[in-house]
Amino acid sequence: MQSASQAINSFKTHFSGDCRTFFAPGRINLIGEHIDYNDGFVLPAAINKGIWFAIAPNNTNTATFVAADVDEKLSIDLADIKNIEGWQSYVLGVLHILQKEGYIVNGFNCVFGGNVPPGAGLSSSAALEAGLIYCLSELFQLNISRLDMALLAQKAEHAYPGTKCGIMDMFASLHGKKDHCILLDCTSLEFNYFPIVLDKYDWVLINSKVKHSLNDGAYNKRREVASDALSLFQSVNQKITSYRNILPSVVEQFKYALNEEEFKRSLYITQEIERVQAAGKYLQEGNLIEFGKLMYQTHNGLSNLYEVSCPELDYLVTQARFHNAVIGARLMGGGFGGCTINLIEKESRESVVADITASYQNTFGITPEVYVVESSDGVHELLNEQ
Ligand code: GLA
Repeated sequence: MQSASQAINSFKTHFSGDCRTFFAPGRINLIGEHIDYNDGFVLPAAINKGIWFAIAPNNTNTATFVAADVDEKLSIDLADIKNIEGWQSYVLGVLHILQKEGYIVNGFNCVFGGNVPPGAGLSSSAALEAGLIYCLSELFQLNISRLDMALLAQKAEHAYPGTKCGIMDMFASLHGKKDHCILLDCTSLEFNYFPIVLDKYDWVLINSKVKHSLNDGAYNKRREVASDALSLFQSVNQKITSYRNILPSVVEQFKYALNEEEFKRSLYITQEIERVQAAGKYLQEGNLIEFGKLMYQTHNGLSNLYEVSCPELDYLVTQARFHNAVIGARLMGGGFGGCTINLIEKESRESVVADITASYQNTFGITPEVYVVESSDGVHELLNEQ
C-alpha cells in the first residue's frame, strides 16, 4: 500500500460507512544500536515510509482487521483475545495489552497496509503497534499520552510476538518530527529534537534483502546476556546501577570474571553509550565527518562484539568504506539482515550506490533495494483524506 486513499478504498470494499485515516511512520536510527534496552541513548528519526490505517467503530463486540498488503482478514471477538502467529500477533498483542491495562475498546473495523518493507530493520511492526494504539485511543477517547502509547506498544510486542525489544522503535514512530532526529535517553525517557543538518549529504539505506526476524530468539538472547553481565558487575560493586556507570576500561578490568560472550557484549554496550554521546555533540556542531567515523565504529562493534551482523551486511559496509564519498555506514536496527544506513555525499550518491549494488549483486546474487528517506512527523491523523 502506498497511500491513504488506497487504505480508504480498501475500507469501502470491505465495510460500509465512513472511516478515519491515520499514518504511523517507520524509523531510521542514526546511531545507538542495541542500547535502548541497555541504559543507553539512541538517535532515531521517523521516516516518510510507514503504515496507513482506515478505521471506524462498528457498534459490535468484534474487531475486524484487513491486512491489505497480504489480502488477509481477521475477525475476533473482543471478549476472547488470544495470540495468533503472523501479522495477527501484533494487532492482537495491542488489544490484549489495552484490555489488561483497563482501557475499554469497543468493536471496530480496520484496514491497514504500508510501504515499510517488513524485516528490513525499519520497524514496520512498531509502526503497526504504535499506530493501532493511537487510532484506538482516538476512536474510543482513551486519552493515552504518546509516551504511554510507546510503553503500551512495547508491552504488546513483549507479550504476543515475544521480542523483548527496547523502547526506541515505538517511541520514534510516535514522537517523530519532520527534519529532526530524536536524542532519547532510554533510562529517563527524556528527549530532545536535533535538526538533521545534512547540507551536502544524504542518508541512504541499502536493503541487503536478507530478511531479519527478531523473534527467533537471537535478539532476546543478546538481552539476557547483557543483563547477566550487568548483574555480575553489580555483585562486585553495588554502586553500579546501570551500564551508564561502567566505562569500557572497567569492562576490560573485569575480563577475568566474565565469560567471553558477556565480555564482548558489555564492552560493546559501554563503548556505544560513549559513542552516541559524542555523536550527539558532533551532530549539534554540524560535524558530519566525525559523526560518520563513529557510524563505522558502531558497525565494527555490532559485527565483532555484539555479533548481530551477517556476511551480507559486513560486505555492504566494507564496500562503502572503499568510497571516499561515503563518510559513514553501518548496519541499522536489530541486525541479522535488513538495511545498512549510509551517509553519502549527494554529488556522488548515484554512482557510489550503483557501484555498491553491482558488486553486492555479483557476490551474493541478490539485487539490493535502495531508499533515500526523508524524516517525518510521528503518528498522526490524516484529516483531509476521504
Ligand atoms: C530492534 C528493537 C529496538 C532496538 C533495535 C536495536 O529494532 O526493536 O528496540 O533494540 O533493534 O537497536
